[in-house]
Amino acid sequence: MKETNKTIDVSRFEEEVRVFAPATVANMICGFDVLGFAVHEPGDEIIMRRSEKPGVRLLNITGDEGRLPKDPNKNTVSACAEMLLKDLGLSDKVGLEIELHKHMPIGSGLGSSAASTVGGLYATNEILGKPLTKPELLPYCIEGERLACGHPHADNVGPALFGGITLIRGEAIKPDLIQLPTPEKLHASIIFPQVDVPTRDARQLIKEKVKLKDAVVQWGNIAGLVAGLYREDYALITRSMKDVLIEPTRAILIPQFEEMKKIALSEGAMSFGISGSGPSVVAMSTKMETAEKISSAIQKHLQEQDIDFFAYVSKVNTEGPKRL
Ligand code: HSE
Repeated sequence: MKETNKTIDVSRFEEEVRVFAPATVANMICGFDVLGFAVHEPGDEIIMRRSEKPGVRLLNITGDEGRLPKDPNKNTVSACAEMLLKDLGLSDKVGLEIELHKHMPIGSGLGSSAASTVGGLYATNEILGKPLTKPELLPYCIEGERLACGHPHADNVGPALFGGITLIRGEAIKPDLIQLPTPEKLHASIIFPQVDVPTRDARQLIKEKVKLKDAVVQWGNIAGLVAGLYREDYALITRSMKDVLIEPTRAILIPQFEEMKKIALSEGAMSFGISGSGPSVVAMSTKMETAEKISSAIQKHLQEQDIDFFAYVSKVNTEGPKRL
């Protein structure tokens, strides 16, 4: 990225910031690579302090079971902070020390790398007195995703940064990001059955060619979902949140997928599908009570099958990252 011409006001610099950045449900079931929404939990916590010595240092990572790179040039949080400092012409003037506390599973289909990337960039921008707007931060977030998983995409970082439901269209690096309305009643029950499905592998499984008749159904569903969100038409949202293209291929990687789907729908879910590239799954509903009932029923089933899991129930998070 090239140097920005932002004016930096050092009197606005802060000594320390603590930030929460949310997990996200990419694809929103029918919108492969173009839709996504943020949730209130889980998410990442980032603590960032200014230090005398210029440069970015990654002091501590917790909650990752040793899986994330500790090299500050390879870890998305520190690498993105460095990228932003460089573009602002501050690399040799500002020192940053970072702690990353992962409060969410990695390789789960919940946008773990996006939460870290967005949290790190949001914290860097806050500590520097907010020189950049959220739209200006987005290209850095997309670069962070490229670094973390080799695939520059915005369907996780978009909602993680802006909150709510986002639509991504156009080029990977400089996409249009459209914030869609979030109907008040939407709730998500998320279950992460503990098997590892790296995004890279889950993408390799997908067929390169799809049948035109399936594509027509899918783009009708995406358009129907977007219209349903604008009209707050829950029946249209329900009919539209179906994935005929990707789910049939990817569901085989997820233990008990069909059983969980059956349970969710019988407990009153509007829809059920894969979160991002999986193995997390998501059931949507219109009431917290229903969302919790769905979650409990699926949890009970997984316990009977001896499958470990994490479960979260959340409304759509319309705020995105926030100061703690
Ligand atoms: N849209 C991506 C996929 C999500 O389904 O592979 C990865 O973040």
